[in-house]
Amino acid sequence: MTTDRRDFLKHIATGAALSPLMIMNKWTAEMKPLLDKITFEGIPSRSDYSLSDDVIYLNHGSIGTIPKVVQQARREYLDNCETNPWLYMWGDPWNEAYEECRIKAANYLNASSDEISFVHNTTEVFNLLATGLPLGPGDEVLFCNLNHAGASIPFTFHAEQKGYKVITFDFPMDDLSLMTKSDIVGMYEQHITPRTKVIAMPHIDNTVGVRQPVKEITAMARSKGVKYITLDTAQSMGMIPIDVKDLDIDVIGTSAHKWIQSPKGTSLAYFSERIWEDIHPMWVTWGQERWEMSARRFEDYGTRNRPEVLTQGHSLDFQAAIDTEAQQNKLKSLWSKALELADAHPNTKWRSPRDWELGGSLYAIEIKGETASDYASRVYTNHGIVLRPFDNLNTIRISPNVFNTEAEIEKVFELIA
Ligand SMILES: Cc1ncc(COP(=O)(O)O)c(C=O)c1O
Repeated sequence: MTTDRRDFLKHIATGAALSPLMIMNKWTAEMKPLLDKITFEGIPSRSDYSLSDDVIYLNHGSIGTIPKVVQQARREYLDNCETNPWLYMWGDPWNEAYEECRIKAANYLNASSDEISFVHNTTEVFNLLATGLPLGPGDEVLFCNLNHAGASIPFTFHAEQKGYKVITFDFPMDDLSLMTKSDIVGMYEQHITPRTKVIAMPHIDNTVGVRQPVKEITAMARSKGVKYITLDTAQSMGMIPIDVKDLDIDVIGTSAHKWIQSPKGTSLAYFSERIWEDIHPMWVTWGQERWEMSARRFEDYGTRNRPEVLTQGHSLDFQAAIDTEAQQNKLKSLWSKALELADAHPNTKWRSPRDWELGGSLYAIEIKGETASDYASRVYTNHGIVLRPFDNLNTIRISPNVFNTEAEIEKVFELIA
């Protein structure tokens, strides 16, 4: 046992008040061992989460599940914070931990910690880009119909005022299943002009789950002079491995509450060093110049949910403890099961890519004979199955995580008329 920890426990035993320094020591002594409570081997199981027994949770694409050990960390940060709210929010005790959390995020993405920013969500990142990138008359921003509104609307909203143009193109939604990587790269290529300055793409979209061949698109777009290539990883970070250097991407926005399994309302983003100077920050406050030239300058420096930002570090520890190969094998086997059942069922049609390399653990099944929302509400009410319906495609979206089972996927198909 370290001296810090012994002193701390002695203080607790005698009921003596803790000085700020002792509180800081509690921090390092007590929170780190929480990591030892990550006990699974390979991939986590349902018992690592708090889902109620009557729920079959197949909607990680909307809201992820937080592991129990991460929930515990969060409670402890919140409890600590309330022992001296001013100290924890504006004092020093958590500064080091904040930076440790940044390092964990950087390691997770193969970035440097200066390239990580603690933002609130994906939508914030695309608002920052639409307002802060040097865009004006003569420039074009390119994206496809699979972009989420949170990544598209900021660009369309600011286009008129800033004078740039938004160019969009459509993936053939009826005919995705046999699409190839080069088809996708070709669609982007066709719409790039000498004026294209930004491409905004979803790594995996939230409706049909196409995994875009980011590396190939980036290489092609850079060869044509596109300056900023930005990626929405709300549906990929935590589901599939991401290496920012390998993808050669400039910016990544994500929503860590989904697949990273962090608390809601806090997230992380990546801003490549090469574009820090180009982006005008969106959040500005007193002493803005204090924030050094790094991705830290894009953070909100008003009062933050610091306990939750720090909890992200524990989510990242949890994610890093997952055996990536076992995770991918498990997600792929659930995907194969769903594909097989969708093909066999007379009233369903698979609407996502049929190649795992172009898909992920988020797929769309068209239902015949019942609206998707009627089906989703029926199976939720009667069987506790949580799915996301999309009535425009009449699809249900299944987005399982590693602890889901083939039996749960089978149940979804058994309940289709
Ligand atoms: C692909 C994608 N991008 C962006 C978002 C928006 O996320 P947030 O509301 O956390 O910004 C979502 C949410 O579902 C999403 O699925």
